[in-house]
Amino acid sequence: MLKTADKAQRDRTASVRDMFDRIAVRYDLMNRVVSLGMDASWRRAAVASLQLSQGSTVLDLACGTGALSEELNKAGMQPVGIDIAEQMLKQADEALPVSIGDCLRLPVRDASAQGVICGFALRHFVSMRPLLAEIARVLVPNGRLVLLELDEPRPWLLRQCHCLYSRTLIPLAGKVLSEKQAYKYLPYSLAFLPDPKQLEVDLRETGFIDITYQSLSLGIAQIVASSLESGSRGSAN
Ligand SMILES: C[S@@+](CC[C@H](N)C(=O)[O-])C[C@H]1O[C@@H](n2cnc3c(N)ncnc32)[C@H](O)[C@@H]1O
Repeated sequence: MLKTADKAQRDRTASVRDMFDRIAVRYDLMNRVVSLGMDASWRRAAVASLQLSQGSTVLDLACGTGALSEELNKAGMQPVGIDIAEQMLKQADEALPVSIGDCLRLPVRDASAQGVICGFALRHFVSMRPLLAEIARVLVPNGRLVLLELDEPRPWLLRQCHCLYSRTLIPLAGKVLSEKQAYKYLPYSLAFLPDPKQLEVDLRETGFIDITYQSLSLGIAQIVASSLESGSRGSAN
């Protein structure tokens, strides 16, 4: 059972890495276009949700082209970006400390970061538990975790509009500016968003407390923030 989950995760990580390597060059532009420029304010809100002081070391997991790391820098924090896709990292500002690595096996010492932030990557993990356990390992006690993700609006009409937009206009923009297949897949990947109730259980069982939720832009994005309980070490079981 465990082996099957491991294999499913390895397969998903490999196909996600290949996809992001292919779309890396136009990734930032596509983000700006398909979010109608809102992604910049979502990132600022995510960094603010860390509630950390200047100088804090923050791991930017699945950092991609480093957009969140840039915001962390602007806020006076010290980002360390990690991503599996080499071509995405190549697009990052050269001044940003980024390195290649898998979020499920972070090349980072225990209890070495005051904060962890992860933007738009939860859909790429088969299960949240191993990821959260690894995050709990690298955070200091009382360290902060912020997850920024897309979401689907709750009201029926808004949901239909959002669905239409993401299944027609986003692939069209992808076709013109980047790669249609990848941007056809991304809206469907919303189905892999963690179930909110299960995410809360997973957070609590890996040692996270004070969980807060913030809905952004009529519910098309969300921030989940929490703190690692002092004395806690994440458990994947
Ligand atoms: C949608 S992009 C988000 C990039 C960036 N966080 C942002 O805010 O724009 C998702 C990123 O997750 C990375 N990723 C997916 N699975 C990963 C894993 N297991 N370890 C590290 N990075 C991973 C992909 O390579 C990709 O760069």
